Amino acid sequence: MSARWSEDQWGESEQRLRRKHTKPAGRRRITDLTAEQPEDIADDMIRRLTDGGFITEVLAELKSGKEATAYIANTYKGTALLKIYRDFAARSFKNDAIYREGQVVLDERAARAMHNRSRKGLEMLQFDWVMAEWAHLWHLWQAGLSVPEPLVGPHPFDYAATIPAVLMRLIGTEDEPAPRLSEAKLTPEQAQNAWNQSVQGMADMLRLGYAHGDYSTYNLLWWENTVIIIDFPQLTTRQNPNFRDLLRRDAESLSISFRKHGIQETGESTLREVQRRALGPGPAPRLVLP
Ligand SMILES: Nc1ncnc2c1ncn2[C@@H]1O[C@H](COP(=O)(O)OP(=O)(O)O)[C@@H](O)[C@H]1O
Ligand SMILES: [Mg+2]
Repeated sequence: MSARWSEDQWGESEQRLRRKHTKPAGRRRITDLTAEQPEDIADDMIRRLTDGGFITEVLAELKSGKEATAYIANTYKGTALLKIYRDFAARSFKNDAIYREGQVVLDERAARAMHNRSRKGLEMLQFDWVMAEWAHLWHLWQAGLSVPEPLVGPHPFDYAATIPAVLMRLIGTEDEPAPRLSEAKLTPEQAQNAWNQSVQGMADMLRLGYAHGDYSTYNLLWWENTVIIIDFPQLTTRQNPNFRDLLRRDAESLSISFRKHGIQETGESTLREVQRRALGPGPAPRLVLP
């Protein structure tokens, strides 16, 4: 997420409120907790997923990011990518405000807890964030888009049991997981093909009413000449007043991130092409049995 969004007004007033309400002692306690916890959280989660029959074993750690760690795991449905989010206390959720704007929280106490960033509030924000990733993944998968197959669900009751983890089919193989487009070596023809599919993917999402919110070659996998879109917690809809800006930013990031593959398009021309294609036909939906 780019830094300029952390300066948004909502975030600033949030910060002021927090400074007023949070005692330094409380902050320190949470920091200490965080420092001790990441390994425990992952271990505990892996145990819960194994006990629940969601996975049979964890094979390797693939990548450790700012928010989550990605593992390769075995399941009864095949090899999976297991994404386990870090302890909610480790992040402020301040940068997420832009994505959440326009969302309505009906429960007043919950809304207040989230607003004040109490421990309970942070827990709720994290739960929502990971639930959103699951829900978006399922929606896109069922609509026939090029995304990894979600491996728990489709009912929210089922995947809620795995929070704060997300389990989806591994793209690539256990020995050779699919690279991201940002690190793939492409011939000029492959680059053009990947660009075309990436623009189409963004158009397919827009047709469903979504802006990805972090759309660039860092969140696009490349496997057998196919582009697969990943990383969905921050998807937004038109309900969000920042929708147009986020869409424009995605078009910009996509075009900039493709420059190293020799594709010279501007954010503007990319956005126009995405909007044009969004009016055209989409992929065939996938039939998912409950
Ligand atoms: N289904 C998948 N198959 C193979 N690799 C994946 C898959 N999903 C994610 N990855 C890998 O894990 C990394 C982290 O996943 P991502 O969802 O982008 O989380 P974040 O960027 O928040 O850490 C990706 O950059 C990619 O390399
Ligand atoms: Mg990512």
